[in-house]
Amino acid sequence: MDTFESIRTKLDIREFSSGDVSQEIKLKVLEAARLTGTGLNTQHWRFVVAEDKENIKKLADDSTSGDWVVNCNFAIIILTNPKYDFHMIDAGRVLQNMQLTAWNYGVASGIFTGIKEDKFRKDFEIPPELNVTAIIGFGYPLRKLTGGGKNRLSLRELVFNEKYGNLNTA
Ligand SMILES: Cc1cc2nc3c(=O)[nH]c(=O)nc-3n(C[C@H](O)[C@H](O)[C@H](O)COP(=O)(O)O)c2cc1C
Repeated sequence: MDTFESIRTKLDIREFSSGDVSQEIKLKVLEAARLTGTGLNTQHWRFVVAEDKENIKKLADDSTSGDWVVNCNFAIIILTNPKYDFHMIDAGRVLQNMQLTAWNYGVASGIFTGIKEDKFRKDFEIPPELNVTAIIGFGYPLRKLTGGGKNRLSLRELVFNEKYGNLNTA
């Protein structure tokens, strides 16, 4: 899929069908993560893949803003090291690359960030030096997606010419 088309049509999805995502696609998603650049090439992030239904259920139980993850086919926990000021930027880049790679194969995904910290860390044996930054749930979408009609501001509202406040005419 053309990169722009992929961005245009991708939505954050919270309803999944029961279809299994192949190991080949999962590996592609993880390769996309591995290949993503980090600040100073530190590669401080680590990824926990949850495929086991019981662990996916735990993800939902340990979440405060992502109980929908219970119906995903597999999930990836993104851990980053907060000793780097830019660790959240690294997390954003890698999660978007993983989501777009999945979407290229028709696999939808959603993310959540709210967790019950202590329980989550205990259940997934997260080392104290790493931050649980985001969780992505992947699966085939329950409904057909077109990506049309996204709820977004216009370029006119978002972009300025040369200096902040100068109306953009593009
Ligand atoms: C930093 C960040 C945090 C988010 N946290 C959550 C979350 O905790 N739970 C959730 O269901 N969605 C979460 N989302 C998904 C957003 O709600 C979603 O990207 C936004 O509504 C746009 O969705 P759309 O692309 O489908 O239009 C998060 C997205 C981002 C970028």
